[in-house]
Amino acid sequence: MNKFLVLVFLIIVFSCNKAQKEETKSEDLIMVKQSEMAALMLSMYGVNQANKSLILKGEKPKHFPNQFFNIHTANLTEPSDRNEAFKAYSDFYLKNLQALYNTTDIDSLITKHNNVINSCITCHKTTCVGPIPKIKKLLIQ
Ligand code: HEC
Repeated sequence: MNKFLVLVFLIIVFSCNKAQKEETKSEDLIMVKQSEMAALMLSMYGVNQANKSLILKGEKPKHFPNQFFNIHTANLTEPSDRNEAFKAYSDFYLKNLQALYNTTDIDSLITKHNNVINSCITCHKTTCVGPIPKIKKLLIQ
């Protein structure tokens, strides 16, 4: 497969407004600009992936990623997604993340990490189902 096809494939697999985007031509797909929120989500994904490896080694994640508070302000691909429920899910996610970083109980790290990931999934079920299988890989079984 050439690089162009791989890119189109990745955009279709990982983007949220799947049905809508599939109707557009592939040339348009390449032009789709990544929203601030999509970029923030990818960095949230990266940090949680790093946390998972740390926790599996029995270590506690250290510096709370304050930039994740931008979930309340980052521009969305679908601005109408930001309703009351979205704000509540954002707070729920940040609260679980703080509980993980603030804990002194090493034995609870796995549970607290999984609470964070489940709060990602809870919001995604209502706004953006595409990445859920990828997010589930962050859970510690
Ligand atoms: C409050 C709701 C909410 C929470 C909580 C949330 N997400 Fe998202 N996520 C979204 C929305 C909405 C989008 C689509 C963003 C856009 O396109 O503007 C998205 C997009 C994504 C994407 C796709 C980015 C791309 O390539 O376009 C990934 C991956 C992702 N989220 C992972 C996560 C992870 C991991 C967490 C938890 C650490 C998380 N999300 C928490 C709502 C949420």
